[in-house]
Amino acid sequence: MLGLNNAITEKNNFYGNTDPIKLVEKYGSPLYVYNETIFRERCRELKNLVTYKNFSVNYSVKANGNLSLLKIAKEEGLNADAMSPGEIYVEELAGFKPEDILYISNNVSAEEMQFAIDRDITISVDSLSQLEMYGKLNTGGKICIRFNPGVGAGHHEKVVTGGKKTKFGVAIEDIPVVKDILKTYNLNLIGINQHIGSLFMDGDKYIEGAQSILSIAKNFNDLEFIDMGGGFGIPYKKLASEPRLNLQHLGKELDKVLHQFAEEYGKEVTFKIEPGRYISAECGVLLGEVHSIKENYGITYVGTDIGFNVLKRPVMYDSHHDIEVYRKDNIPSKNSHPVTLVGNICESGDILAQDRLLPQIMEKDIIGVLDSGAYGYCMASNYNNRLRPAEVLIDSQGNDRLVRRRDTYEDLVRNFDI
Ligand code: LLP
Repeated sequence: MLGLNNAITEKNNFYGNTDPIKLVEKYGSPLYVYNETIFRERCRELKNLVTYKNFSVNYSVKANGNLSLLKIAKEEGLNADAMSPGEIYVEELAGFKPEDILYISNNVSAEEMQFAIDRDITISVDSLSQLEMYGKLNTGGKICIRFNPGVGAGHHEKVVTGGKKTKFGVAIEDIPVVKDILKTYNLNLIGINQHIGSLFMDGDKYIEGAQSILSIAKNFNDLEFIDMGGGFGIPYKKLASEPRLNLQHLGKELDKVLHQFAEEYGKEVTFKIEPGRYISAECGVLLGEVHSIKENYGITYVGTDIGFNVLKRPVMYDSHHDIEVYRKDNIPSKNSHPVTLVGNICESGDILAQDRLLPQIMEKDIIGVLDSGAYGYCMASNYNNRLRPAEVLIDSQGNDRLVRRRDTYEDLVRNFDI
C-alpha cells in the first residue's frame, strides 16, 4: 500500500497490524475505524487532569456512543453523562451503574424524567419550569441544576452553550426563584453543572467558566458535586502542525481554583468534567473510496462515498478535517492539486473539503478523514436512503474487529408497516 499525506496515522501506528486498503476490502466502504490505544490514552490524560482527589470524568457519550468504546471508558474508570433516555439505555448496557450517570436533560417530557427517576439516576434540569416538573414528579428528591454562567466558547456559534445567546441553563438572576422552588417541593440540590460550549483550544475560557460556576455554588450549602462541563478541544489541523490544547497548564490552573474553592466551601465536594470530543475524536478515522474525478468549470471534484449522511460536521459547521490518501498500487502521485472532495448525496452542499491541496488523487484511492471519532457516526443518517457505515476497532494488540455492522436495506424499511 502507498500512503500519501499519511504522516499522522503512520506516526501513531493507527492501523496496527492491518492497513486501510485491507480494512475496506474486508469491511466495505465507507468505514469508521477506531483505535483503542488512542481512546484509552485520552481517557487517562483527562483522569489525571488535576491532583484534587474527588474528581470525576464523565464521558459525554453523545460524541461517540459505540458500545465497545463505552465499555472501554467504563474499564478506564470514567463515568458517563447522558442527554437522553436512549443514551442511558446504552450506558446501562455498557455496564454503567445509576450512580455513574448524570442525565443532563433539556426540554424533556414528564415521561423522560420519570425514566431517570425510576432508575435512581441524577437528573440535571435546565429551566425553572423543568425544575417545577421534577418537583411535582419526585417531591423530596435529589436534583442537579444546569446554570448558564454567562460565559460561552466554541468552534462555531451553533455549539456555544453559555452566555447570552443560547437556550441552555438557568440564569444567575433566577437563583432566588430556584431557592423558592426547591423549598416548595422539598428538593435537595446536590449538584450544579454548566457547559460553556464545544471546542476551546485556550484553557482560559474554561477557567473563567469554572470560576463562574463556583461562585454560583456559594449560593447553595449542601452540594455534593459541581460539574464544570466539557468542550476540551483537539487540533483538527495536524498536517499544518496546529498545537494541542495545553492540558498541563489548564490542569494546574484548574487545580488551584478547585483547592481554593474546597477550602472556602467547608464541605467535601466532587468536581466533574464532561468531555466528549477530547476523548473520542482522535481515536477515529473515517475511510471512504474515490469513485470519480471530474473537472467542472475549472474546479476538480473528487467524488467519494463520504456524503454528509456519513460525516455531517463539514456541512453543518464548515469544519476542517485533515485528509490522508491510501493507494493499493505503488503508483506515486506526481504533483499536488487543489481539489474539492465531495460525497454522493443529491445536494450541491455535499462537500467534505473545499479547495484542498492534496497529492494527485486517482479513482479507487481510499481517503482517510482524520479525527472523525467524535460527532461522526452518531450524527450519521440514512438520508437519500443510504446505509450508515460499519465501525471497526483496532484493539490494543493491533487487531481489527467489527464493532457495529453496516446498515442493510432491510434496516431501511424495518419500521414500516409492510
Ligand atoms: N456536556 C454538555 C452539556 C454538552 O452539551 C456537550 C456538547 C458536552 C458535554 C460535550 O462537549 P465536548 O467535550 O464534546 O465538546 N456536534 C458538534 C458538537 C456539539 C457539542 C454540543 N455539546 C460538533 O461536531 O462539533
